[in-house]
Amino acid sequence: MRKRIVAGNWKMNLNNSDAQALFESLNSNKIVSSAEVVIAPPSLYLSEFASKKGQQICLAAQNCSDNDNGAYTGEVSASMLYSIGVKYCLVGHSERRQYQNESDVLLKQKVNVLLKNKVVPIFCCGESLDKRKSGDFFQVIQAQIENSLFHLTDSEIKEVVIAYEPIWAIGTGLTASSDQAQEIHAFIRALLVEKYSLQTAEEISILYGGSCKASNAKELFMNRDVDGGLIGGAALDLDSFLAIIESF
Ligand code: 13P
Repeated sequence: MRKRIVAGNWKMNLNNSDAQALFESLNSNKIVSSAEVVIAPPSLYLSEFASKKGQQICLAAQNCSDNDNGAYTGEVSASMLYSIGVKYCLVGHSERRQYQNESDVLLKQKVNVLLKNKVVPIFCCGESLDKRKSGDFFQVIQAQIENSLFHLTDSEIKEVVIAYEPIWAIGTGLTASSDQAQEIHAFIRALLVEKYSLQTAEEISILYGGSCKASNAKELFMNRDVDGGLIGGAALDLDSFLAIIESF
């Protein structure tokens, strides 16, 4: 049975005191959910959170270098993340694809370096509003997944989590409808069946992200192929995030 995951991507939000307060509240709250709870704070806070966190929270980095280690000023390596107890790392978030021009080839390298260092990539894919409107969105998602993931072996792809995040729904208040999310998640799983096998595809968690909040989480998570959420804005508010987690 594949894992359910609710992950909060804090993006570049919360200064130290607010970040600590939100982390402490989450860490001390008794969470009742069948989903694994993950937070992806700015990397600055990861080490301290790793040393303080209890069993019920896992940590994710928002990014890592595509290189192993060495003379890459300003970068953080996958092996460093692993060494402090970070379990996951986001790869290919649309904001990084857009503002840092991250290409499919670069993301493929990041996936490789993460897997080599035992950090689970949360690989993000999703189409722009233009592609949604033109109807080309299946091809966009297929290319993103094929170009950055389909070189992996069967046992490697099972270590990857995929997050579908339509760009037009990120931070806009527009959410993919429950049916739209299920349609793409089923499409992604079908790609995995075709490339690998039904058994492999059934083991891979596919999360939805894009204006997911307490009021729509249940309906989205109810779908057969939606295994959880990657939450932005609503993860910055304790009550909202807890309500989303407890939708499972
Ligand atoms: P919002 O939930 O704020 O739309 O952000 C989604 C997201 O980008 C999570 O990675």
